[in-house]
Amino acid sequence: MIVAIDGPAGSGKGTVTKILADRLGLINLDTGATYRCVALMVIKNNYNIDDVKKIEELLPNIDIEFKRENGEEKVILNGEDVTKEIRSKEVNKIVSQVSAIIPVRLYMAELQRKMAKGKDVIMEGRDIGTYVFPNAEVKIYLDADVEERARRRYKENKEKGIEMSYEEVLENIKKRDENDKNKKIGALKIAEGAIIVDTTSKTIKEVADEIENIIKSHVRKD
Ligand code: DC
Repeated sequence: MIVAIDGPAGSGKGTVTKILADRLGLINLDTGATYRCVALMVIKNNYNIDDVKKIEELLPNIDIEFKRENGEEKVILNGEDVTKEIRSKEVNKIVSQVSAIIPVRLYMAELQRKMAKGKDVIMEGRDIGTYVFPNAEVKIYLDADVEERARRRYKENKEKGIEMSYEEVLENIKKRDENDKNKKIGALKIAEGAIIVDTTSKTIKEVADEIENIIKSHVRKD
């Protein structure tokens, strides 16, 4: 079974997906993390973001694994734990542009399909219900007001010790929305058959309960 959770930055996808994976025993595939790994490789190799040819050559050498250790989700890139590094300011800055490079998108979508093969997964991203798994059994589009999403990210950053003003975060999110919605392949949009869940004034638990009910009603129907 594939549950696709799409939506913009700060809509609550990451948090809710983790909760639902735990509750329902599904494998959690964070597709944004796969693009973040490519962005980290670009930085580590000192490549320019416009050097598509070099970035393309990196792709076959990227091995990504999602692991669960002591109840924590870890992202392993070529054998190295990069869980924290892929959330850094530097990666945040270029990841949207990296994820818009067409060969990167094609390669990563295929990798994500391979990672999900034969498993019951909940996948969060931007284009899961539209492009990676258009036949997913359950499709959810999470959304929230841009100011609310910026407030959430600002709070999250503060907790992680990332120094950024609220205005900076808001600007960053607006830019990412713009980039994410205007990609040639895999743009962020509401998939056909997706159920829209607006999280603006809801608690995480309320959102998780709502989606859990949607998933359960789909499973019962099949
Ligand atoms: O969800 P996130 O913030 O970790 O995603 C990082 C970037 O990757 C974000 O700018 C959008 C992009 N992305 C994408 O284009 N397609 C996906 N399926 C997931 C993420």
